[in-house]
Amino acid sequence: MLELRHLSYAVDGPEGQTDILNDISLVIPDNKLVVLTGPNGGGKTTLAKAIMGLVTPSAGSILWNGEDITALSITERAKKGISYGFQQPPRFKGIKVKDLLAIASTRKLLKKAEACAYLTQVGLCATDYLDREVDASLSGGEVKRIEIATILARHPALMILDEPEAGIDLWSFARLTETFGDIRAREECTMVIISHQERIISLADEILVIDQGRIARRGSRDEVFSEIARSTRGACPALYGEEKK
Ligand SMILES: Nc1ncnc2c1ncn2[C@@H]1O[C@H](COP(=O)(O)OP(=O)(O)OP(=O)(O)O)[C@@H](O)[C@H]1O
Ligand SMILES: [Mg+2]
Repeated sequence: MLELRHLSYAVDGPEGQTDILNDISLVIPDNKLVVLTGPNGGGKTTLAKAIMGLVTPSAGSILWNGEDITALSITERAKKGISYGFQQPPRFKGIKVKDLLAIASTRKLLKKAEACAYLTQVGLCATDYLDREVDASLSGGEVKRIEIATILARHPALMILDEPEAGIDLWSFARLTETFGDIRAREECTMVIISHQERIISLADEILVIDQGRIARRGSRDEVFSEIARSTRGACPALYGEEKK
């Protein structure tokens, strides 16, 4: 179980302190899929990074399976089964895709068939990629999918993914959402997915809308999604037949 207690994160700016996260408290039970959504700049990535230990909260605490992990390093959190996929994943010059998968799986000799299976789950044709370097020659969508494959290979207890849909084509995205759906159905791990995509939001046990560093709204897909749709379609009233007569 993941628990956040009164989590805040403030940064010093030219005009004094700015609160990026503001007193966030929540509990995510084991094996649930929770989607964080909300407007750009709302604080979703910062919240995910705080859980992974990439940013240090200015107040509050993070508990994982009842243990306070707020002061633990990224490595210590990783050893406790927490994994994070970046909104913009880093590249690793000189490291091949198969090496990255082997490191992630903690097996020195990851069988080719296993490595291929992880890549297939993210919609990549494995034989084309195993010997490729994770460098600038890969496209943005390919790097993103390879990073998600390495997270799958790690079999984490808590998987945090930051906009897994970003830059991914429709066909691969369909495969990816199937993978998330399968993991959820098998109750393999707890998933916190930051997403703006309806197909991912549809899989969620709970949706949290993060806005201005706070939980603005939370609830089931049915409770929250229609509200999001209503509040975000203001850009073109003509499309929705809401033009003033
Ligand atoms: N170190 C920092 N210094 C100053 N401002 C910061 C810092 N880190 C984050 N912010 C600001 O905090 C806000 C939240 O950023 P964050 O990346 O968490 O948003 P987000 O919800 O993930 O947005 P998006 O949907 O665009 O990915 C943004 O306005 C961002 O500019
Ligand atoms: Mg973000």
